[in-house]
Amino acid sequence: MKYTFPRRALHIAPFLFLGLLGAMPAAAQVRQEYLLDTNWKFKKGDTPEAATPGFKDASWQTVRVPHDWAIYGPFDGRNDLQEVKIEQNNEKAATLKAGRTGGLPFIGTGWYRRKLAVPGFGAGKRAVLLFDGAMSNARVFVNGKEVGNWPYGYNSFSFDITSFLQPGDNNTLAVRLQNQAEASRWYPGAGLYRNVHLIVTDDVHIPVWGSYLTTPEINAEFGKVNLRTKVQTPAGATQPLRLQTEIRDAAGQVLATTSTPLAATDNREFQQELIVKTPRLWSPETPVLYTAHSKLYAGEQLKDEYSTRFGFRSFKFEAGKGFSLNGQARKFKGVCNHHDLGPLGTAINTAALRRQLVLLKDMGCDAIRTSHNMPAPELVDLCDEMGFMLMVESFDEWKTPKVKNGYSQYFDQWAEKDLVNMVHRDRNHPSVIMWSIGNEVPDQSAPGGNKIAKRLQDIVHREDPTRPVTVGMDRIDAAINNNFASVLDIAGFNYKPARYEQANDKLPQGFILGTETASTVSSRGIYEFPVVGAKQKKYPNQQSSSYDLEVCNWSQTPDEEFVKQDDLPFVIGEFVWTGFDYLGEPTPYDENWPSHSSYFGILDLAGLPKDRFYLYRSRWNTAAPTLHLLPHWTWPGREGQTTPVFCYTNYPSAELFVNGKSMGRQTKSPSASPQTRYRLMWNDVKYEPGTIKVVAYDAQGKEAATEEVRTAGKPDHITLTADRTTLTANGQDLAFVTARVEDAQGNLCPTAANKLQFAVSGAGRFRAVANGDATSLELFHEPKMKAFQGMLVAVVETTDKAGDVQLKVSSKGLKSGVLRLKSQGVASR
Ligand code: GAL
Repeated sequence: MKYTFPRRALHIAPFLFLGLLGAMPAAAQVRQEYLLDTNWKFKKGDTPEAATPGFKDASWQTVRVPHDWAIYGPFDGRNDLQEVKIEQNNEKAATLKAGRTGGLPFIGTGWYRRKLAVPGFGAGKRAVLLFDGAMSNARVFVNGKEVGNWPYGYNSFSFDITSFLQPGDNNTLAVRLQNQAEASRWYPGAGLYRNVHLIVTDDVHIPVWGSYLTTPEINAEFGKVNLRTKVQTPAGATQPLRLQTEIRDAAGQVLATTSTPLAATDNREFQQELIVKTPRLWSPETPVLYTAHSKLYAGEQLKDEYSTRFGFRSFKFEAGKGFSLNGQARKFKGVCNHHDLGPLGTAINTAALRRQLVLLKDMGCDAIRTSHNMPAPELVDLCDEMGFMLMVESFDEWKTPKVKNGYSQYFDQWAEKDLVNMVHRDRNHPSVIMWSIGNEVPDQSAPGGNKIAKRLQDIVHREDPTRPVTVGMDRIDAAINNNFASVLDIAGFNYKPARYEQANDKLPQGFILGTETASTVSSRGIYEFPVVGAKQKKYPNQQSSSYDLEVCNWSQTPDEEFVKQDDLPFVIGEFVWTGFDYLGEPTPYDENWPSHSSYFGILDLAGLPKDRFYLYRSRWNTAAPTLHLLPHWTWPGREGQTTPVFCYTNYPSAELFVNGKSMGRQTKSPSASPQTRYRLMWNDVKYEPGTIKVVAYDAQGKEAATEEVRTAGKPDHITLTADRTTLTANGQDLAFVTARVEDAQGNLCPTAANKLQFAVSGAGRFRAVANGDATSLELFHEPKMKAFQGMLVAVVETTDKAGDVQLKVSSKGLKSGVLRLKSQGVASR
């Protein structure tokens, strides 16, 4: 168990200054938060006796939480075989789908146990367990007694365990989790896959998610802060109470203070107003944060401390004008993401999330939809810090099921509780711009569906009147005709660019959001010929072509969406399906095991950019040039055959040369097709080995940049590049190391499938590996994997000890790659 400085409740050990005496003894901390990460015992299977304190768990596996019990495999198409007709995919008959949820063994029951020391606990104290998420149907036991349950695996929830605890260190915590078959449309993960916290406070205290901070007025001179803070007291508690709050900027400078007494009639809530002069605004480009630090006093005695991090930003959604942030019109350049982290499964890891966001930032992405469920709190914190606007989503179904054992079974009893927790946890975050109450819920077209939408939206408004509510709708006609779409603050449509105008004419809001767009499919580094647009196209290799022209029968190429985003002022942006590939939903190969992960990602399951990354980057990243050529140029046997060359660039025109011969100059032009407007394409190039080179010209017609791709020779060596080379020695920091199989000249061997082996020595360990091949059944946690199209990503984890870390990647017949990383001690506070 480790003491942590929690995110939303940062507690500074108060020191009592004894002034002239010179002594400075530390007073007891009024609030302590512990991360329950180590010393957990785990066993798959149902062991009801495990709830009892005396149960012997010595033979159980020792695990560290966050933990995903299913990611270690093995893959098997029978793990969650679903015979279904996927209605939202326009399927006409049920078929057998083996990889729909990733083919991993997440179904069944599992138990986690650990001793629970509660330091400082005793009379006048309270203890709370806070789960950031537990998959799923959590039942929590303390000392053999059930303290509560929470079915929905994605939500955060807490239980007050004060009355269940005994004094001393001899308490036992046990958690039973159970996942049903046919409960999901993607890989949900399994177990205590997010953090578990123990919070110990005085019994006069601020409860979990006890503050609500809004900024009702922001202008150049000042920003007004409205802070509501709840307080819980035992019956007949000491009065009077007082809350002292100061606002600090990121450097810790105090900018405003206030002190508020609480009258008995104040309903146990403090209302405070503070003014910050010349506030700096939060935006994706300037993620400036402030913190309100509150101290709760009973008389002169400090009872609790609580911190609320926030930002100053204002936004509007206006008919005819669309979306604006801090007074500036903009369109969402967003992606939808599922919650898994590829080879790490769903076990949350801050370094892995940060790496994803760094990659998305480079693409110019400024928004994320947490499809189709509540995110990990770490993601929301990172979005505040790094500058991403969030659409936080709650549900994939309401009353009408999409899968046999999905959320519909809990909806009536739990929907309100789930929404309340979602909003209370995340409503102080500047990154959160809107809430989504559902995705493609079949209730869109059910009688009374609009009433459900209204009820859920009202709940969200009640808990947070400052943000609008949306739903990702797919049944556009039904949703418009039965007044479902018109009820919502924001009408969000999935895959309907061709109908945005029609919808906008019929709806009252005056703007439309592309809640889900594109769903183009591709496999990194795979190119199929002839190069033609196609729907639901399948190949014997169970891959999709990276010319970015293949879509599903309901979806579009990126360019088709771009046209509408650019031409229709009332369209306020898009959320592309998806940023990263995810486990499960291997469309168009839903029926074709071993395909078991998606092809939709702009980046693959290993986090390696596919070509599409550069198409979005060329449009979204306005700060840096993009010039990217495809396909690779190593095609033995294709000599003389038509091998189109595409260029994704933000330059308006470019000239292509094949072995020095000009193939002509192309200029982006809106006339012929959506593709000609956003890509430069040379469709008639005949393959000959050598070099393709593109020379780009800027708007003034000046030569601006060049890029080339060469035919590769035989695989010769492995090169390694890490996303970060200096890590933290905290046992969970990660380096993502890209391994490339290259020829002697340093060219990527673009079809290499060499089997690579990984060895980590020093202050680190091998954690996982992924190659982005949706058909690969190789296990992520074993230190060996085949390269896919010449590349893969190995993940190295630090230990708790500082020192040098060495990764060696070897393969028969290739010169090994060696990489050195540094793992540094955690900075003392
Ligand atoms: C949508 C759905 C997503 C995903 C996507 C694939 O209909 O909302 O969850 O299934 O299709 O294209």
